[in-house]
Amino acid sequence: LQHLLGIDGLPKSIINHILDTASSFVSIGERELKKVPLMHGKSVFNLFFENSTRTRTTFEIAAKRLSADVINLNIAASSASKGESLLDTIDNLAAMHADMFVVRHATSGAPFLLAQHLNDTKQHHVHVVNAGDGRHEHPTQGLLDMYTIRHYKKDFSNLTVAIVGDVLHSRVARSDIHALTTLGAAEVRVIGPRTLLPGGLEQMGVRVFTNMNEGLKGVDVVIMLRLQNERMNGALLPSTQEYFKQYGLTPERLALAKPDAIVMHPGPMNRGVEIDSAVADGPQAVILSQVTFGIAVRMAVMSIVSGSNA
Ligand code: CP
Repeated sequence: LQHLLGIDGLPKSIINHILDTASSFVSIGERELKKVPLMHGKSVFNLFFENSTRTRTTFEIAAKRLSADVINLNIAASSASKGESLLDTIDNLAAMHADMFVVRHATSGAPFLLAQHLNDTKQHHVHVVNAGDGRHEHPTQGLLDMYTIRHYKKDFSNLTVAIVGDVLHSRVARSDIHALTTLGAAEVRVIGPRTLLPGGLEQMGVRVFTNMNEGLKGVDVVIMLRLQNERMNGALLPSTQEYFKQYGLTPERLALAKPDAIVMHPGPMNRGVEIDSAVADGPQAVILSQVTFGIAVRMAVMSIVSGSNA
């Protein structure tokens, strides 16, 4: 695995290897992470062309736990604002002996473009990890979601998982669907208004529901998604009250799922839009555990990718 660009096409064995490696970094007690020298002497460049709280910070913590040097490029203050192209930026940073680029970009495929360029220019020692590209994929979020589900539910083969909300614009939904179907979840459902569901979902192996109450019946895991207003290009949106009435996760709606169902959300949450605070802060929510698990999962991804010369 020279780069991690998406979960689509990753074999089950590699996904499980990443999850098992993440487990190996977690000390007994599950809140402590070992510091290991696996990336000592390597430089990780965080390139976030879109804003982030969780992903950027946990990548930085993870890289430091792996003993790497971390450089967070301030994109707004960089020469990208003077018109320097993405590939010129990459070449210049690679000339500073970058070993890994962690890239978030509004354009789907930007990390793939970088990886292709590095391969074309024979810079095979430099690795790219996708930290979210447009509406395409957010593979490390997908992996940390799988780690969270495995932690609480152990086995995927009996699980029904519902992904709820703005699937059309969600890179998290796409990565989660690929991961869940590859790991053999019994049933993957998506629930949302028809206008926020992309075509081709059935071909991806999921059941589609437009009625929230129907879709939530008997599920083991509920993954809530935010309305991605920044990707809607001024499209006519339902009012937030209307949306919450039809698709907001309230305690009454959650009661339709299995009594031991867990509630997940990649963040950032919009309380009162897709999720009620009583659920977000309730006993079934594992949302902050997802964030914590993200550190170990990103350690696993970076150590595996940086160890590859393929
Ligand atoms: N889940 C996620 O990607 O959050 P951030 O945008 O804060 O990184």
